[in-house]
Amino acid sequence: MDKYVFIETMGCAMNVHDSENILAELEIKEGYKHTLDPKKADLILINTCSIREKPERKLFSEIGQYAKIKKKNAKIGVCGCTASHLGEQILKKSPDVNFVLGARNISKITSIIHQDGAIEVATDYDDSSYVFASNRASGVKAMVNISIGCDKKCTYCIVPHTRGNEISIPMDIILSQAQKLAQQGVKEILLLGQNVNNYGKKFSTAHPKVNFSKLLHELAQIDGIYRIRFTSPHPLQMDDEFLKEFACNQKVCKSIHMPLQSGSNKILKLMKRGYTQKWFLERVAKLKSMIPHLSIGTDIIVGFPYEDDLDFQETMHVVEKVQFDTIYSFIYSIRPHTEAASLEHNVPYAIAHQRLLELQNRHKEILDSNNKKEIGRVYEILWENAREDGLMEGKSDHGKIIRAPFQEELIGTFTAVKILDSRRAYLIGEIL
Ligand code: 5AD
Ligand code: SF4
Repeated sequence: MDKYVFIETMGCAMNVHDSENILAELEIKEGYKHTLDPKKADLILINTCSIREKPERKLFSEIGQYAKIKKKNAKIGVCGCTASHLGEQILKKSPDVNFVLGARNISKITSIIHQDGAIEVATDYDDSSYVFASNRASGVKAMVNISIGCDKKCTYCIVPHTRGNEISIPMDIILSQAQKLAQQGVKEILLLGQNVNNYGKKFSTAHPKVNFSKLLHELAQIDGIYRIRFTSPHPLQMDDEFLKEFACNQKVCKSIHMPLQSGSNKILKLMKRGYTQKWFLERVAKLKSMIPHLSIGTDIIVGFPYEDDLDFQETMHVVEKVQFDTIYSFIYSIRPHTEAASLEHNVPYAIAHQRLLELQNRHKEILDSNNKKEIGRVYEILWENAREDGLMEGKSDHGKIIRAPFQEELIGTFTAVKILDSRRAYLIGEIL
């Protein structure tokens, strides 16, 4: 009899990749098959996020829903960041849950599924040298973890509490994983870490001295890997050595995520981000001067405690100056175990919401006008997948999504494309 596992994934790319690793371990070592139907599953997993309050609140209603529809003997496991953060409270509050597996412990998935009532949430557990099973069948892109945890002390962020201290994954493990992926036909890798450009600061075993620039350099030597992306770097650690490697390494895609959080020096200080508006803009200017078609994305929080209209206008000033290609914007959400949770002067929700709308509306205008400038340009596109509307989708080196009429033989290949038209979220191209 086949056994099936269903997994719901909330949150960031790190969680998406954790879910991939969980599925591979369960398939290879425990004989589970992946299903997209929770009613069919023998094991239901919820891989949770706790970065803001909303997804966390959603968890208990989700558990209730799954408990109602699940097969009689199916188990429910809660994994990920909320599992780390709430631990045994989850089992106490919800008798439908069989086990709780924290974000830092996912390599224990194959044992915990056999232990009813188990809780594995230690945030000092070290699986930085654990090599996960692989069940890859195909695909042109793959994610590769380069570190676990986070050592930054951003005052709004719960992640150091859920994922523990930062430890880099040994370089030989990363390189051999990338080599294996290249042999399987992967052409583009996405390096993952909470703070990727801090790579090499701490390993749990003896390791030769190395930093993120060196890692990029070594990865670029692998035949078959044509593109390297990474998320997320910290603006503070974008020193000249990093900028040079980023600009000059031919395989490193010219698209970068630079989480700004706020443009106000007062708020950046309260957030303990470690840089100023001037530093951020200077790094952007330097990158733009080195790279002609650079795409820059960012994360912005509005309504952080003490943020007044002038502070928000400082954020908008940076938005105008940089002309970000993507902005993930959020209203500040108070998180337990963070320093900012004890700050007074919370911004009323209505004001924070107004600022969010102003930011998002302005960004839509920026995107519309900047995407129009792409018309007529020619880019190399790696075609990734077919769409249901008869088009296929791929990305340029600088991270723009391009669509063109579907041609099966082109999936997984690079072709030159001329941009014919633009939409806010993608560009329309003609294959040359
Ligand atoms: N409230 C709102 N947004 C947050 N982020 C992190 N913590 C919070 C919080 N408490 C945002 C940051 C981060 C992104 C992943 O989520 O912008 O870069
Ligand atoms: Fe990812 Fe942070 Fe959410 Fe954890 S809390 S899943 S690290 S976004």
